[in-house]
Amino acid sequence: MKKLWGGRFTKKTDRLVEEFTASIGFDHLLFEEDIRGSMAHARMLGACGILTPEESEKIIGGLARIRDRVRAGEIVFSVEHEDIHMNIEKLLIEEIGPLGGKLHTGRSRNDQVALDMHLYVRARTVEIVELLARLQQVLVDQAERHVDTLLPGYTHLQRAQPVRLAHHLLAYVSMFQRDAERLMDSYKRVNTSPLGAGAIAGTTFPIDRRMVAEELGFDRIYDNSMDAVSDRDFLVEFLAAASLIMVHLSRLSEELILWSSEEFGYIELDDAFCTGSSMMPQKKNPDVPELIRGKAGRVFGHLMALLTTLKALPLAYNKDMQEDKEGLFDTVNTLTGSLRLMAPMLESMKVNGEKMRKSAEAGFANATDFADYLVKKGLPFREAHEVVGRMVLYCLQNGKTLGQCSLEEFRRFTPLVEADIHRVLSPEHVVESRNIPGGTAREAVLETLAEKKRMVAETFRWASTVNR
Ligand code: ARG
Repeated sequence: MKKLWGGRFTKKTDRLVEEFTASIGFDHLLFEEDIRGSMAHARMLGACGILTPEESEKIIGGLARIRDRVRAGEIVFSVEHEDIHMNIEKLLIEEIGPLGGKLHTGRSRNDQVALDMHLYVRARTVEIVELLARLQQVLVDQAERHVDTLLPGYTHLQRAQPVRLAHHLLAYVSMFQRDAERLMDSYKRVNTSPLGAGAIAGTTFPIDRRMVAEELGFDRIYDNSMDAVSDRDFLVEFLAAASLIMVHLSRLSEELILWSSEEFGYIELDDAFCTGSSMMPQKKNPDVPELIRGKAGRVFGHLMALLTTLKALPLAYNKDMQEDKEGLFDTVNTLTGSLRLMAPMLESMKVNGEKMRKSAEAGFANATDFADYLVKKGLPFREAHEVVGRMVLYCLQNGKTLGQCSLEEFRRFTPLVEADIHRVLSPEHVVESRNIPGGTAREAVLETLAEKKRMVAETFRWASTVNR
């Protein structure tokens, strides 16, 4: 088969070379973006008088028919035409005749592929922001139900101080908020049109770069043709943002796995999100959070691979850059799949508030509060720390919690304790006494909750107004 670029060649391409250099096996995923970009390009060529209005319309009509046929699954792309761009051009020539060959006027595959990638990442950026907001929404709803559910907060995975479950869940809402903001910020840079940069130096045709950019919903155009065709920073930013989201999802997953173990027993994941064991009939495994935790690694890998591909590449386009695609596509699949499952999994999980509360009472999570109590009665903190430490040891030896000790037992350790001690050491009092912004008191948590609700609504609004 004759290549679109076959003019200066005297020999057929080696079959292995064809297979090695082709990207159609994965960049067929860009067909929507490619056709959309080509339609806008053809319309602009017509408007600028580079094509006649009839030529421009015929090309656009042909592209629309090809798009329908691809969507209907009627097209088999060919490795001989290397990539999505040349496959579509070839199909267009078959569809409307030699006129199809005019589509590539004033354009190169270098600015074309850059355009496709910008369109692709722009749309995925908005989708992922929406998925993050949806996940935040679920977390906020659960938080609202569990303002008064207390559990131990952990440091070093040892019981530290009791917290409200709402407070714990809202920590994740804050993480996902930063993730959404990172993507909304990178959107500004991804929404820049490279079209018109040609292969490297622009084009001799009097094209209108701004017109085609506007038609495609871009806010601006690259101001340097060499940067336009060699920039893949927007992909690195996307992969970096995706990596952090996977970090956050993996931490949440890890907690769901721990909390649903019999040892913790804090939550039960819905049967719909778990699987059984082929051998052990009693097992209900948290495969979904395990897989999300496990899949984080491949996303980090794609980020590192792309950075490595780009490092030390001379300007401008180099074929190395074709390697940007598979990792990106896999990242989008992995990330959207994880976000889509995390939300309903959290929504449907059952919370065992009893068990959480028992643990909050059991583990001396109120020891700091006892020490603070003594300090407020005038004891230096270091001495208070010592008194409480000795009393904790006493409790451990006698199988009790601090709250289970009588006033008389407390007084054996210090005369400063009064009748209010049991109230002060209750988990409710412990969380309630931290009434500062970002703290665990009811008022502070409710305030954060309301603020997060506003932010989530704002994110949804952003996603519904930007171009994708
Ligand atoms: N398939 C190529 C890629 O993904 C498209 C650009 C090719 N340009 C070129 N001059 N070979 O990067």
